[in-house]
Amino acid sequence: MSLNRYSRVLTQDESLPASQAMIIGSGVPYEDLNKPFVGIGSTGFDGNPCNMHLTTLSALQKKSVTDTKQMVGLLFNTIGVSDGITNGNDGMRYSLPSREIIADSIETISGAHFYDGLIFTAGCDKNMPGAIMAMARLNRPSIMVYGGTINGGHFKGEKLNIVSAFEAYGKKINGKISEEDFREVIRNSCPGPGACGGMYTANTMATAIEVMGMSLPYSSSSPARSEEKKKECQEIGKYMYNLLEKDIKPSDIITPKSILNALRVITILGGSTNAALHMIAIARTMGIDLDLQQIQKVTDTTPLLADMKPSGKYLMEDLFAIGGTPAIMKFMLSEGMLDGTCMTVTGKTIAENLESLPALPKDQDLLRPVSNPIKKEGHIQVLYGNIAKKGAVAKITGHEGEKFEGKAICFDSEVEANEGIRDGKVKPGHVVVIRYVGPKGGPGMPEMLKPTSAIIGAGLGDNVALITDGRFSGGSHGFVVGHITPEAMEGGEIALVQDGDVISIDARTNQLDLKVSEGELEKRRAKWIKPPYRVTSGYLWKYIQMVKDASTGCLTDR
Ligand code: FES
Repeated sequence: MSLNRYSRVLTQDESLPASQAMIIGSGVPYEDLNKPFVGIGSTGFDGNPCNMHLTTLSALQKKSVTDTKQMVGLLFNTIGVSDGITNGNDGMRYSLPSREIIADSIETISGAHFYDGLIFTAGCDKNMPGAIMAMARLNRPSIMVYGGTINGGHFKGEKLNIVSAFEAYGKKINGKISEEDFREVIRNSCPGPGACGGMYTANTMATAIEVMGMSLPYSSSSPARSEEKKKECQEIGKYMYNLLEKDIKPSDIITPKSILNALRVITILGGSTNAALHMIAIARTMGIDLDLQQIQKVTDTTPLLADMKPSGKYLMEDLFAIGGTPAIMKFMLSEGMLDGTCMTVTGKTIAENLESLPALPKDQDLLRPVSNPIKKEGHIQVLYGNIAKKGAVAKITGHEGEKFEGKAICFDSEVEANEGIRDGKVKPGHVVVIRYVGPKGGPGMPEMLKPTSAIIGAGLGDNVALITDGRFSGGSHGFVVGHITPEAMEGGEIALVQDGDVISIDARTNQLDLKVSEGELEKRRAKWIKPPYRVTSGYLWKYIQMVKDASTGCLTDR
């Protein structure tokens, strides 16, 4: 079987001379028309460290593909949205919706131009699940490359990252750092290319995707500026050719078993709550049934072992220094936490890939042994209750306790919440309710990193909880519950909460309860009036029409 399974439609049909003329006009020699075409895409764009270097990585990949002399590499780009830049402002509304544009645009160019294979390099939170969703839809031989993590910044002997900059604001308004130090934290938090450095959403998803088998070993942990990242791109041609030759497709790699592997690593490393959304979306796009209850089962049976930011100490570059993601996988395999039989983009199984790779060094303290976990169960807890009938997702690492009861203080937008925190309205004992920020209400289910950072910065992290129908950044920490479904805009009970109501959050029983009688809620429900959507045209309007709720991954295509 020839390897140009799709592109032959364009290149081998004599009734399509114009298609062939245009391809030749773009620089593909006539003699190469019968070779497989590999789309080499990225979310490379300027103005954001996570994506600024991706087109350079794509160029290395194109050379690697072309140098095999057996494939044609064709570059393309799509968009991305930086969460670090858009957090705390209206730009964030586009963040989660950008996942769908990325998936749609990769599917569109690869489908329309009949690429036989796909290499895609992604650098930020939504870009990676977007790329994998496209690969799952197309189901053609594909490899995802992670743009790599940023190096840590430094100031006054402290290691900085993007969350240091967010939290610096809370410290400044509470007089805990000087104006000059505030400026220096901003100046030094992001010292060059690479995605946000802790176990935030980008590193979480990159790791999950490598463990799932869709990236080459080390892709998720080799930093953006490392020689290893360069080497990964320079060698990718031979892996791509192998996938084409053996016809190994995403459906051979993304399976219920590999999804379970990914969920386990997310738990062990203390990954972002956004993974709950993205993993459901990836699985369902691949036709695999995954829901919040199954995620909770993984949490119940998997310990939290890694001391990584945002709750812990280490950054992804520190993980890389002790053997990277393969060393973590090797540890998991030896502990019976990983199914080593799963196929990967090397054309080999996980166990075969790991065989010759080094294990964790003995003297490391980033990953604890199973006998001495940070937390016996996972940190991502799925809660249900009378204000979260279809579920909510909390991140409980243990640092913040497992139970919180307090009085509600309600804000109908993130801006109002930020102003309330700034003006000292939020006091110890409060449960901050931020609503009308769900997938349709936000719109786009924005992340609440600014309010959580302001709460931490104000020293209220131990005394205040925050619940929302929006999301959290992987950088958020504290007692936080997000993804409350149904959302306020859809008439979910979170819309009925009033200031002073008692809210109880119990991560041991997985309950999120508003302590108000059903009769009283009925009265409030009868008076509730759905507010107008915040956006009435453009892409976000389309998104409001299409998006499904957070408990099913905020998909738009099914
Ligand atoms: Fe790109 Fe954080 S803004 S990973």
